[in-house]
Amino acid sequence: MISFARGAPASECLDAELLADCARSAIAGDPSVLAYGPGGGYGPLRKWLGDRHGVEPARVVVTNGGLQGFVFYAEELLAERPGRVLVEAPTYDRPLKILARLGADVCPLTMDGEGLDPDALERELAASETSFLYTIPTFQNPSGRTLSTERRRRVVDLAAAHGVPVLEDDPYGLVRYEGEAPSSLHELEGGELVTYASSFSKTVAPGVRVGWFVAPAGLAARLEARAVSNYISPPFLTQATVHELIDRGAFEPNLERIKGLLRTRRDAMLGALARHLEGKTSWSNPEGGYFLWADLPVDASHLLTKAEAAGVTFVKGADFYPGGDGGGRSARLAFSSASPSEIDEGVSILASLLR
Ligand SMILES: Cc1ncc(COP(=O)(O)O)c(C=O)c1O
Repeated sequence: MISFARGAPASECLDAELLADCARSAIAGDPSVLAYGPGGGYGPLRKWLGDRHGVEPARVVVTNGGLQGFVFYAEELLAERPGRVLVEAPTYDRPLKILARLGADVCPLTMDGEGLDPDALERELAASETSFLYTIPTFQNPSGRTLSTERRRRVVDLAAAHGVPVLEDDPYGLVRYEGEAPSSLHELEGGELVTYASSFSKTVAPGVRVGWFVAPAGLAARLEARAVSNYISPPFLTQATVHELIDRGAFEPNLERIKGLLRTRRDAMLGALARHLEGKTSWSNPEGGYFLWADLPVDASHLLTKAEAAGVTFVKGADFYPGGDGGGRSARLAFSSASPSEIDEGVSILASLLR
């Protein structure tokens, strides 16, 4: 099966030897990584992340992947501020499932090629109480879209005007193949209302399960308390392994290598789409990240059934809308995990099914 469904890095992206060596040094250099410790994460990594974001280490909570942090954040905010959770439509499917499990009232906000529509945000903020806004402004999962700087300013201004907390989820921002990175919402707003979340899953390896949250001080302490009550302390071994990789100066070169591998895949997918589907289908053109979004001339679930029978899989657009309400003729195509030749073959199979 050629998978355009998996939002995971291709296996060549994972430098097993480097990580094994970093893990060995991490234990040898600091055997306390084998013990229990602070629920908010490995001290040296918190410090490095705090310096990077210009905050005290106590405001950084290193979680078991970004998604675990999302659970803590959502539980905390829903308890503290009852109200609707505003999300982009489409948005990352796992948070939608978590929010449904938590019984949240989820309100979809429309998007276009420039990302979240601030007018929709303004309308919904005025319409009823909001618990928080969940947004993925850069190389969004699933659409690959990036919110323009002008819109970022408006989002931040609207959040401030309504006093509404924002969770900015940014695991893909560093995976940029070209173009200039816009300022994060967190930078624009100053971190009073905006909590910034990211992860080493897409830049080092998902298996390390190291994500991080940069939150206002009080919220960070509460997220840390949730971590303690759920798992006592996180796996310091993998956090220290990531820290060792950074400390050696290997993070940036490794990221460049990963970006090279993924850029080739992004280009393979864009090239194949242009060759096989020009005029029949439209797609986003991301400058980074793992995904692009295709608007199809047919029902995506019918295409998916036929595609899987022919050896190609993707995720249908409806999975990224609350209640499956939308995206019927759309698909998320991940270019991160298949090889460039598989990507070409997979797109040509999809094109033959659309003919
Ligand atoms: C937008 C977004 N947030 C969070 C995550 C979760 O990442 P992690 O592996 O750090 O839990 C993903 C993974 O695909 C993602 O796409």
